[in-house]
Amino acid sequence: MESPSPEAPAFPLQRGCPFAPPETASAFRESGTPRRVTIWDGSEPWLITRHDQIQQVLGARGAFGADVTDPGFPNTSSAQPTVEGEIFFRKDGDEHLPIRRILNADFTVKRAEALRPRIAELTEQLLDELEAKGEPVDLIEDFALAVPTVVICEVLGVPYGERHAVHESSKKLVQLSLPMEEKLAAHQSLHENLARNMEHKRTSPDSGLLSRLVNTHVDERGDLTFEQAVRLGTLVIGAGHETTANMIGLGILAFLREPGQRAVLMSDPAKYASGATEEMMRYWSMVQTEPRRVCLEDTEVGGVLIRAGEGIICNLPAANRDPEVFAEPEKLDITRTDRRHMGFGFGVHQCLGQNLSRVEMQEAWPRLFRRLPGLRLAVDVSELHFHDDALTYGLERLPVTW
Ligand code: HEM
Repeated sequence: MESPSPEAPAFPLQRGCPFAPPETASAFRESGTPRRVTIWDGSEPWLITRHDQIQQVLGARGAFGADVTDPGFPNTSSAQPTVEGEIFFRKDGDEHLPIRRILNADFTVKRAEALRPRIAELTEQLLDELEAKGEPVDLIEDFALAVPTVVICEVLGVPYGERHAVHESSKKLVQLSLPMEEKLAAHQSLHENLARNMEHKRTSPDSGLLSRLVNTHVDERGDLTFEQAVRLGTLVIGAGHETTANMIGLGILAFLREPGQRAVLMSDPAKYASGATEEMMRYWSMVQTEPRRVCLEDTEVGGVLIRAGEGIICNLPAANRDPEVFAEPEKLDITRTDRRHMGFGFGVHQCLGQNLSRVEMQEAWPRLFRRLPGLRLAVDVSELHFHDDALTYGLERLPVTW
């Protein structure tokens, strides 16, 4: 790849401060217009950083597409079109919506609320295990990653006893440094687990997603093949695992750094946990290299004509600190009432798992701080390692004592 020009800096952008969006993204937002960046293959997609312009792109019908096999799509690697080309959320219209509708039923606010007591119980069980293990612990490995795994197993209907196997496999899927063969093996093992469980639901149906997929959609309606249904199960595990885990971890760190905010949360968790979750989503905006789209018809965005065939990357961290939308955007304030953040995206591809994730965060933080009121970092903040260039921003480890 040729060196990026100063007008089109290399993307992913680096953060100077781990608690703020990349400076370049913020500067682009202040300039008011979409700007070009240079990605791995030398192409120069547009980076959109303003809140209103991202809403325009992600909310437009038909003008921008999510299909990673479109030649103009700003792929993350040369493998992306092959690996992700068939996934429903990398498609548009009739290839996306029918599958999305099939899944929606298990991810409504109502379903997430119905799961709240079970999520609370599972969180307490994990805290029992954490306390039994003794300090210091790595809260990413022992808590933040474990919560979404046990919860998604519950949603799917994977037996509790198999959570460790699922946890091990899904952890490997998102490890950046792991060799490809190990990742493929982890994927295979997850696939086999879900296929076995799904087969079992044919004779022992329950209220979980796997049971509904196989009994209603494969066997009764025939709108999915068994193989497609299994793949949807693995997709749901993959999409919700690292994202929620990173948010739980980053949220813990923010509360440790800002004891005043933590005191507000703990003064009345029932009152403040929901606002805290929205504010953490805004503040961290941990999906940092997506959403991506390809322009399908010439469209003006912020005074710039984006042409059909050009790539677009939306920068959520910059948009969620847009001063035209959020007062004092750099400040973490869990009592903030403006909830227009786009941490879960916007438009037809907006996050499927957001309601579930919200309940997980709302239960995880107050329960952790109630159980371990003396919780503190076991290392200096400067020793924490954040991943800057991954799809999701997050901490590799969060060593704590109490
Ligand atoms: C804090 C946690 C999470 C964050 C920050 C997050 C963020 C996002 C974002 C920004 C998008 C939009 C992508 C785009 O427009 O291209 C998205 C889509 C999606 N998310 Fe999440 N997500 C989280 C948790 C989850 C969970 C728990 C699940 C599954 C149970 C999940 C499943 C999905 C799926 C399937 C899509 C694609 C939806 C579609 O295209 O129709 N996510 N997520």
